Amino acid sequence: MKIIAYEVREDERQYFDELGEKLGVELVLTEEVPCLGNASVATGCDGVTTLGQGNINAELLDEYQRLGVRCLSTRTVGYDHIDLAHAKKIGLPVCNACYGPGGVAEYTVMLMLLCIRHYKAALWRMQVNDYSLGGLYGRELRNLTVGILGTGRIGTQVAQILSGFGCRVLGYDVYQGKASQWLTYTDLDTVYREGDIITIHLNLNEKTRHMINRESIEKMKPGVILINCARGALMDTDALIDGIEQKKLGGLGLDCFEHEEGIYHQNRRDDIISNRSMAYLRQFPNVVMTQHMAFFTDAAVYDMVKCGVEGICSVLKTGKYETLL
Ligand code: COI
Repeated sequence: MKIIAYEVREDERQYFDELGEKLGVELVLTEEVPCLGNASVATGCDGVTTLGQGNINAELLDEYQRLGVRCLSTRTVGYDHIDLAHAKKIGLPVCNACYGPGGVAEYTVMLMLLCIRHYKAALWRMQVNDYSLGGLYGRELRNLTVGILGTGRIGTQVAQILSGFGCRVLGYDVYQGKASQWLTYTDLDTVYREGDIITIHLNLNEKTRHMINRESIEKMKPGVILINCARGALMDTDALIDGIEQKKLGGLGLDCFEHEEGIYHQNRRDDIISNRSMAYLRQFPNVVMTQHMAFFTDAAVYDMVKCGVEGICSVLKTGKYETLL
């Protein structure tokens, strides 16, 4: 079996090598982001595995299938970059990754703590020998209500971690699961109304795109802190900017950003970057932004590569894989 892996980072290479040998798979590794222009490198490959920077649209899926590709896997949990409906229509199986939720959940809680303790402003001041305390008055997590939107594996783990801090945790999801051990399920408006901090852990799709918008922010407490370690487009960036400017929002912890593709995970130091909202939001002292790195841990990266390769092998050999979408 032959698999082409796109968007391969240095830290993934050793895992690909190990898995290729273990599973007897011939692997072609490239740093390139998949697109029509480089689809031909998949010629003769049974499977394609990718990360999340490419736009795997209908045209590209058709082309892969025409080239003989029989399965596609994304080494990410999210699959909003793939036209899944079209893949289903043409009978091209797609699977995603299922790495442990711990890294993203811990990172989420870290962003909450950074925000409530004004850590970004404190860090900036230290760099210029300003040791003053003004404006750095913090709050303690145990006295706050945290709202979790989406209680899948990551949302549930966030709730579990938060139970150790002693805060009140509210959750909203259409499917209610074992998170009820660590949070109280409620309706969306109650989460908006009562959350001092609200964190979102939902898939991005047409129902959830811009779920956090002017209307939802309007329903929230003044000074609410919003956290996003899922997908940038779950939040309407213009509404976030207005919320910060009007001081309705007390802070933002954003590990992802709308239209981050082609920017995040790249060294763009010498380039003129055209995502104006990103540069604008970044300058506020109460907005913490990182380069979509909540996932980036030793444990998760190995699992991502494993799911990427193993998923294709399993689907092609047995027609099944636990994360077949
Ligand atoms: C995912 O796994 O869905 C992520 O968000 C991580 C990815 C950007 C590498």
